[in-house]
Amino acid sequence: MSTGDKAYSVPLYTTSNGCPVRNPNAMIKMGKFGPALLQDHHLIDLLAHFDRERIPERVAHAKGSGAHGYFEVTDDVSDLVYADFLNGIGKRTPLFTRFSTVGGEKGTADSERDPRGFAIKLYTQEGVIDWVNINSPIFFIRNGVQFPFLVHTQKSRDPQTNLKDVNVYWDFLCNNPESVHNVMFVFSDRGTPATYRNMHGYSAHTYKWINKDGEFHYVQIHLKTDQGIKNLSNDQSHALKADNPDHAGQDLHESIDNGDFPSWTCYVQTMTSEQAEKAKFSVFDLTKIWPHSEYPLRRFGKLVLNRNPLNYFAEVEQAAFSPANTVPGIEPSADPVLQARLFSYNDTHRHRLGPNFNQIPINCPLQAHSPFQRDGQGCVNGNYGSEPNYPSSYHPLNYRLDASNNEAHEKWVGEATSFQWAATSNDYDQALALWEVFKKTGQKDAFLYNISDNLKSARTDVQDRVFKLFGKVSSEIEEAVRKATLKVSPRK
Ligand code: HEM
Repeated sequence: MSTGDKAYSVPLYTTSNGCPVRNPNAMIKMGKFGPALLQDHHLIDLLAHFDRERIPERVAHAKGSGAHGYFEVTDDVSDLVYADFLNGIGKRTPLFTRFSTVGGEKGTADSERDPRGFAIKLYTQEGVIDWVNINSPIFFIRNGVQFPFLVHTQKSRDPQTNLKDVNVYWDFLCNNPESVHNVMFVFSDRGTPATYRNMHGYSAHTYKWINKDGEFHYVQIHLKTDQGIKNLSNDQSHALKADNPDHAGQDLHESIDNGDFPSWTCYVQTMTSEQAEKAKFSVFDLTKIWPHSEYPLRRFGKLVLNRNPLNYFAEVEQAAFSPANTVPGIEPSADPVLQARLFSYNDTHRHRLGPNFNQIPINCPLQAHSPFQRDGQGCVNGNYGSEPNYPSSYHPLNYRLDASNNEAHEKWVGEATSFQWAATSNDYDQALALWEVFKKTGQKDAFLYNISDNLKSARTDVQDRVFKLFGKVSSEIEEAVRKATLKVSPRK
């Protein structure tokens, strides 16, 4: 998978076309004081490649670290799903995982207050499936069209000053009050996990698992850390930004190097379509959790990371995850954020890595046969030789013409409508329940400290709007946030 081994077996330095270069430190010049010569292929080859070394960084989740490992089935879920890699206790599937922060640029600190990405690429016998997860069971938005606005306000810089703007950050969240549940998660200490090994992973979205009889369940996936949850305090996270901005990447690399392999136990929550219709919330609403008491967790597997990448660029930077990558038996739900994601990832990969990004070894399925996708920049896989580039009747291609066994499980009716999921007073119950958890588990003070430390830099009119945002959940939280903020940011 890596090109690293090959490089070590070549004894002599050469130009990219293989011509030996005895002294890579020398360049060819006309006499002692003359100009450089265009015929110095080593110099030009080297500089031209250097000039193109950077690829665009990810538009979101730019800072990250990765590791290889495997997924193992530990419990039978064949009544729920016919996907080959999830059937057969003990069956192992190789995988690659990339952890990330969301809003930071490629060089920013691992300890930033932010959600954490937890993306997993599983190389199954039936193709690559990506679980493009996050460390919270919920998210800020529940409408796909809002993602660019979210990223522009939470990550991007002011168009004029190129400065980050805390007022813009909160303006977006106040305008979209359904975000408050995730805001509370991110401003608890879970918003600053101690390491990537010490956090859970969640699909957050609803997906569908289909069984061999064609029945489907709505599901949510939970990956629970076997290392236990550990978080940084607000002050520890600030200190690490200066002391060791790469602390989480370092921790992941060193623990795997030391044979201390991190693992996660995988669970699934399920819901039938009848249950979904009766639920108090929509299963397509990404700002809501499924209460464990009503929809219990069922264990099905173990995820282990046991091998470090040999080459960061080849394996981590070029990794291209997409929720659209799935395998038979697992499908997306109609969650409007997930639906938007199905387009966005492979689209950005075509821009970031080129149209043949799936030929890059880290993205390559164990077996792929797509001879109708031909040519294009960066095509390196032999391009299917002389095979026809369309479904030719003169070629004995082994098409599977059998119909999928789940074709009628969801029936959609209706017209194209302009969809906007505005917040109503019913949207704050789960945020209030989280506040009660904070109170019971001693997390309330940390939450108030973390949020006031951030809000102290905002304008007073913005602070007032944030207090009102929490007032939608309860007057108790509104008062508590106001009091904590005014203490560190007194008004004249
Ligand atoms: C409409 C909503 C969303 C859109 C359009 C979107 C789009 C993107 C894009 C364009 C990237 C950069 C990918 C790359 O350059 O390789 C990205 C990264 C990522 N997104 Fe999203 N995203 C959305 C919501 C979410 C949600 C809800 C989650 C989690 C449940 C999530 C998890 C991730 C992760 C983990 C990565 C990093 C993947 C990696 O490590 O390479 N995203 N997203």
